[in-house]
Amino acid sequence: MKKEMIMKKNTLMAIVVVSSVVLSASAFAATSTGGEIFKANCSVCHPHGGNVMRPDRTLKGLKDPGKIIKQIRSGGGGMPSFDTKTISDADAKRLAEYIMKTFKK
Ligand code: HEC
Repeated sequence: MKKEMIMKKNTLMAIVVVSSVVLSASAFAATSTGGEIFKANCSVCHPHGGNVMRPDRTLKGLKDPGKIIKQIRSGGGGMPSFDTKTISDADAKRLAEYIMKTFKK
């Protein structure tokens, strides 16, 4: 096989791998528990309920689900916002409950 062909094949393989990862990630988010939604969307910046960007704004000891959901929807201060396509209202509620239950002071 010519080198060019091999290159093309590898590129195609890479595209297939990347798109299947993306697809499975979104399928995952659609039917997940609070913990899974957290892992998929939040844990990069909030590992173990912390905050890698703003160490003073952790998720520990939060008590108001409405405030958590508002933060998810509007983001700000370096945090992206998540719309209902990314995290449904039901998932946002589950996520807030997971955070309050899991990350205590
Ligand atoms: C790119 C990094 C990033 C991601 C991803 C991220 N956050 Fe944040 N989050 C932040 C930053 C930075 C702040 C502090 C914002 C500020 O100071 O106004 C914050 C603040 C918060 C707060 C307020 C904490 C407090 O002390 O009042 C909550 C709640 C929160 N994030 C929840 C989430 C949830 C739930 C997700 C996933 C759906 C998420 N975050 C994803 C960076 C992120």
